Amino acid sequence: MGMICLQCFVLLLHCSFVHGTSKGALPQSCNTMTPGHTSTAAQTSPAPYSVTVSKTKYTGGDTISVTLSKTAAKQFKGYLIQARNQDGTKIPGFNLIANSKYLKCDSPNDAVTHTEATEKDSVTFQFTAPTTSKGNITIFTTAVENYSTYWVMMQSDTIIDAVVTGASSRFLPDCVLVAISLFCFHLYRH
Ligand SMILES: *[C@@H]1O[C@H](CO)[C@@H](O)[C@H](O)[C@H]1NC(C)=O
Ligand SMILES: *[C@@H]1O[C@H](CO)[C@@H](O)[C@H](O)[C@H]1NC(C)=O
Repeated sequence: MGMICLQCFVLLLHCSFVHGTSKGALPQSCNTMTPGHTSTAAQTSPAPYSVTVSKTKYTGGDTISVTLSKTAAKQFKGYLIQARNQDGTKIPGFNLIANSKYLKCDSPNDAVTHTEATEKDSVTFQFTAPTTSKGNITIFTTAVENYSTYWVMMQSDTIIDAVVTGASSRFLPDCVLVAISLFCFHLYRH
């Protein structure tokens, strides 16, 4: 009896350290995006997966396709996907697809993860850009090939905030205005 209890205890202890499960990532993985699989470490080799985005510039409400796919023979069983701006703020906006669910990190629906561990070639989510300007956004993705082999925080191309960068195009008229003012001032003095 005592032996069984001890085994149960060890099993429970083990389970509590496993953040990524066959039913998806757990909140403990929100910031580092690391599965927390005991006695394993993330791969440092180039990932056999890619994260692509259909747009590299957004204005509020744009829909952007985000695809995680294999680039070699290796399929993946699990994933965790987040959109973050330059401040590291997690931006909600992903839809759900089959066998996916939301993970609440800092706000509801600001991460998506798998719900089962079948081998996948790719997954594509639609990300709806925030309606208010949030700065440049990058998609961060962790993909799990198996319990001991996974790549964390693979980055997409930056999706540039057109509203913020649009500010730089107002720079020119401002310069022209200043130049005209200086020119007029110069004329006035003579
Ligand atoms: C966003 O990216 C654009 C293009 O790389 C850059 O010009 C701009 O400074 C970036 N915005 C911020 C706030 O870093
Ligand atoms: C996990 O994947 C690695 C790399 O493909 C492979 O060497 C290893 O045997 C796999 N482990 C399991 C338990 O399938």
